[in-house]
Amino acid sequence: MAATVGRICGAGLFKSNSLATVNQISSYSTTREWTRGRKAFLGSLGLLAGGAGALMYTLDQSVKATDLELHPPKNMWSHNGLFSSLDHASVRRGYEVYKQVCAACHSLRFIAFRNLVGVSHTEEEAKAEAEDQMIEDGPDDQGNMFKRPGKLSDYFPSPYPNEEAARAANNGAYPPDLSYITSARHGGEDYIFALLTGYCDPPAGLVLREGQYFNPYFPGGAISMAQALYNEAMEYTDGTPPTASQLAKDVSTFLKWTAEPEHDDRKRMLIKGIAIFTFLIATSYYVKKLKFASLKTRKIEFRPKNN
Ligand code: HEC
Repeated sequence: MAATVGRICGAGLFKSNSLATVNQISSYSTTREWTRGRKAFLGSLGLLAGGAGALMYTLDQSVKATDLELHPPKNMWSHNGLFSSLDHASVRRGYEVYKQVCAACHSLRFIAFRNLVGVSHTEEEAKAEAEDQMIEDGPDDQGNMFKRPGKLSDYFPSPYPNEEAARAANNGAYPPDLSYITSARHGGEDYIFALLTGYCDPPAGLVLREGQYFNPYFPGGAISMAQALYNEAMEYTDGTPPTASQLAKDVSTFLKWTAEPEHDDRKRMLIKGIAIFTFLIATSYYVKKLKFASLKTRKIEFRPKNN
């Protein structure tokens, strides 16, 4: 190793044209012919731009109301590990929480009843869930819209016909669609859990408008959604004790699934990928060693011809 480095570094020193190369390179430099004035001008321009950037960054940081916002603590979700799947019993319970509590205000537009099949429900159960809901369809022969029981292919119905109606019913605040909410908020499912369980009295001096509630995890602290989950707010069909934190944990897991339905497949692919690539890399390493062995150990001799 050392011998190789020495050979590479040393070789340049003995070359007669090494200085010429340096000169050649420096004659390509664009700054060489600049006057001192121009250099000073451009230098100060650079300093000014850097200073302005730093100032903008500090000003931006200083107006952020970080003292009124808490970062959600990281929870030990059972799906946290690199190879861990979602807890599907929890996804099923979370669906019950969404259906009985959140669905009164929040839509879940991008999830269809058929998506539940094989994830949290059997096909029959998912069909029954769909038939429980009345879906608007139409127009019929007379040109009227009508309601019919849901089918597997239907998407979850929204509680309000449009955003304006949703705002009118919620003091002007819009309850966002929850399909992708864990991907759309910093902290993901940790944030949802902290938000749902984090309601408390506002600190002294903070005035809330009518219809606002204090939640330290919501940016700014004043949220227009009232606390939705309480102990025993509903019953689970599997008999799990419905404490507020259990409800929040299950609905967060469910919303993690709605945002990343491919979650389990992705992790399964990772296991397959690691297995396949370990084999491929090991084989190519072996083949490379094998093919290069004769090249690396050969000796080249120069024999001048004596004639
Ligand atoms: C009574 C209606 C109502 C119910 C029930 C309700 N929400 Fe909300 N939710 C709202 C409104 C209104 C907002 C908008 C709040 C705002 O922007 O200040 C909101 C906002 C949210 C947000 C977004 C917060 C953010 O960072 O922007 C999440 C997440 C959320 N709700 C989750 C839930 C979950 C989960 C449930 C069920 C356990 C639920 N909500 C039940 C009305 C409701």
